[in-house]
Amino acid sequence: MKRCIVSLITIIALVAVMLVGCGNNNTNKGTSGSKLEGTNEGSGIQVGIVLPTRDEPRWLQDQAQFNKILGDAGFSNEVLFSQGDPAIEKTNVESLISKGIKVLIICPHDGAAAAAAVQSAKDEGITVISYDRLVTGTEAVDYYVTFDSFAVGVAQGQYLVDNAKGKGTPLYLYAGAATDNNAFIFFDGAWSVLQPKIADGTFVIANSSEAEALKDKAKLTRAEISEIVGQVTTNWDFNVAKSKAEADLTSSEALKGDVCVLAPNDGTSRSIADVFAGDTDITNYVITGQDCEKASVQYIIDGKQSMTVFKDTRILAADSVEMAVKVLEGEKPKTTGVYNNGNKDVPAKQTAVIVVEKTNVKESLIDSGYYEAGDFTGL
Ligand code: BGC
Repeated sequence: MKRCIVSLITIIALVAVMLVGCGNNNTNKGTSGSKLEGTNEGSGIQVGIVLPTRDEPRWLQDQAQFNKILGDAGFSNEVLFSQGDPAIEKTNVESLISKGIKVLIICPHDGAAAAAAVQSAKDEGITVISYDRLVTGTEAVDYYVTFDSFAVGVAQGQYLVDNAKGKGTPLYLYAGAATDNNAFIFFDGAWSVLQPKIADGTFVIANSSEAEALKDKAKLTRAEISEIVGQVTTNWDFNVAKSKAEADLTSSEALKGDVCVLAPNDGTSRSIADVFAGDTDITNYVITGQDCEKASVQYIIDGKQSMTVFKDTRILAADSVEMAVKVLEGEKPKTTGVYNNGNKDVPAKQTAVIVVEKTNVKESLIDSGYYEAGDFTGL
């Protein structure tokens, strides 16, 4: 009887582990030999990681890097996904707190809403590292690890400037989610290079009355960017991006021919590109992206997306792990600047980005070992 109960418990435990696996959340107990063995007497989870959603390949790339780097270094960690819901995000943080984490690495779905979640971590003496997206409106963020998001926007805008065909090119603008601080920075960066070319007549804004109203302003305030983002947001959602692009192209005033499209990231870029490719009055479109998602790299090879911005998640994950390790060792992590989150100047470490187009896919992504040539056709 006792043996039966033990077997039953074992089976339940195994099923529980499998279910966690199915949900794509994962726990990594690290390996022996950790320099920090014994620093986490609770459940053995030293570093808790919360990512915004598993529905975008971008964040699965980050998850894979965390598992590899933390596992190789012998640190126990758990990665949880918030599925675009601040309530799940808060529950995830609470669950990690209850497991005794010492460091929380969090990429918020909604930067402002996540303030409450990180405050509860801070209240327990946990060090909070904001990952890629900044948690805003709170003192409870210790560090920020990020790509140079302004440079991402500049790269996207500059690509359109460099590839516009003559004066009067229709310019379609799309942005990320208004809940994501990065969406503002990306747009700000893009606007800094697009605006002078709107002012000199190279571009004609095709789909945003808000941007049109501000077209003579070289530097926009956050409130002004917010007006534009509010009108052209994709909410980082492929379906929203698709319907916005369809509505734009079926409008009676739609400008067609050879056009340029500012698409904020790869997922939305592919949706928007499909709509533009399907319109017979669009003779050519140049479209941006970011993240180097595999599907977009294939789109670039196939000539369906023009560029993407390589944000090497190996570096970002490694930087945040390095910070976490310093914290666990009781040392102060190295930072390179600060980002203001509305309440505080958060010490930050920033990583540069690389523009990828058809001509340098092999050099930047394959030769660097990020992807394998066999992942793509026609390379
Ligand atoms: C990230 C992008 C990502 C987007 C949508 C942004 O905060 O920086 O890499 O594509 O969120 O998830």
